[in-house]
Amino acid sequence: MEIFAIANWKMQLNEAESMSLAKEVVRLWAGQGAEVSELKVVLCPSHVSLNEVSEAIHGTPIELGAQDVFWEDRGAFTGEVSPVTLKERGCRYCIVGHSERRQYLSETDEMVRHKVAALMRHDINPVLCVGETFEEREAGRRDAVVIGQVRAALEDIRPVGNQRLIIAYEPRWVIGTGTAVQPDDAASMHYLINETLRELYPEDVVERQCAVIYGGSVDSGNVKDFIASPVIQGVLVGGAALKAAEFVRMLEVAADASRA
Ligand code: PGA
Repeated sequence: MEIFAIANWKMQLNEAESMSLAKEVVRLWAGQGAEVSELKVVLCPSHVSLNEVSEAIHGTPIELGAQDVFWEDRGAFTGEVSPVTLKERGCRYCIVGHSERRQYLSETDEMVRHKVAALMRHDINPVLCVGETFEEREAGRRDAVVIGQVRAALEDIRPVGNQRLIIAYEPRWVIGTGTAVQPDDAASMHYLINETLRELYPEDVVERQCAVIYGGSVDSGNVKDFIASPVIQGVLVGGAALKAAEFVRMLEVAADASRA
């Protein structure tokens, strides 16, 4: 299974900025042995910048992802974006259930499940985000909350063919703070998520098609410690993905660590 480095640009960049960041990442990374690296790099711009970023990465091993999707293909759903549109734009991945959507837009586990199912229907690989709040952790509920989110989102869902199912464990309280959790701490949660996946799917599906990655204040300084853990199969990166030089430095460290 590959190691993932997924950039979540959130709502931080306009169209022109997204295009120039994508071009700069291509210039700095795609020439540098990216083709032979085990590292799968995915850029997730906002919906309106998907076309520009798609053009900028065309012909390189870098892939395109979206930050959200609606669960119906078409209809009277004002403001929503169909999985069909994401597919047309060339998205191979899509983030769902990000904690900012759960927090600010009241996205529920059930909505997340519908979104995961819609993506699977269209062969777009979901990047399912799960994670506990600080209060939940303090109350000793980290494992129950996170495993509950995983189970709820994956009920009746099973990756088929070559589909990938990526679960991003993101402790909500470290996102955007500049301080990640200790890699051992993340690894213990990854271990439990993997156990849960093994309860849901046959061993070969988990091995071949599922990946559990970590997100929350990952940067070029700490990425090595996460990638070095055998249960952490990549990273979801926000702030550190917004500057090409820092992001590519992080990719280089991650690529080295994944070879070690
Ligand atoms: P961060 O964001 O790297 O800025 O903490 C990660 C995320 O929200 O996916």
